[in-house]
Amino acid sequence: MSDPVLERRSIRKYTDKPVPDELVEKLLRAGMSAPSSGNERPWHFVVIRDRAILDAVSSFHPYARMINKAPLAILVCGDESLERSKGFWAEDCAAATENILIEAQELGLGSVWLGLHPRGFRVRKMRELIPGMPEHVVPFALLPVGYPAEVKRPSNRYDETRVHHDRW
Ligand SMILES: Cc1cc2nc3c(=O)[nH]c(=O)nc-3n(C[C@H](O)[C@H](O)[C@H](O)COP(=O)(O)O)c2cc1C
Repeated sequence: MSDPVLERRSIRKYTDKPVPDELVEKLLRAGMSAPSSGNERPWHFVVIRDRAILDAVSSFHPYARMINKAPLAILVCGDESLERSKGFWAEDCAAATENILIEAQELGLGSVWLGLHPRGFRVRKMRELIPGMPEHVVPFALLPVGYPAEVKRPSNRYDETRVHHDRW
């Protein structure tokens, strides 16, 4: 039986096939279904299809060259002003990010987590690229999305030495 959690891999090569809006909405729905501290959901998502914005990312992000071939990307952002009890926005955004990656695998799409937060330079440059993005919103992770042009096998990373039962 297929298991999208175990089968998810970082996909960095994409075909030119456009990704339908319905699938993008499914990815966003998956992101917004993530657990969050106090169910506060302190996130925003920017769907980026503008080629000029996508291409500009690799000018400041050292590990993002694949985005030049992706038909779109989802920018996961944190908004501390939406938190009542402060401090967990990044964990919440990480959960949303992982949900999107798993849903992409499930839908036959490919994606990869491009780290932004907590690298201040990347966060600033990414915010500058999105017209109107407020200063208090933090670009957290960028996820290029497309139909995969590479096949990756699941990787078995189960490591018994990292498991402890009742004592260290
Ligand atoms: C916080 C974080 C930041 C990452 N940043 C990048 C990145 O900038 N560029 C990239 O190609 N992959 C990035 N990755 C993907 C990892 O390299 C990848 O998840 C890891 O090598 C394991 O491979 P897999 O995703 O195929 O299982 C990042 C992953 C995480 C969780």
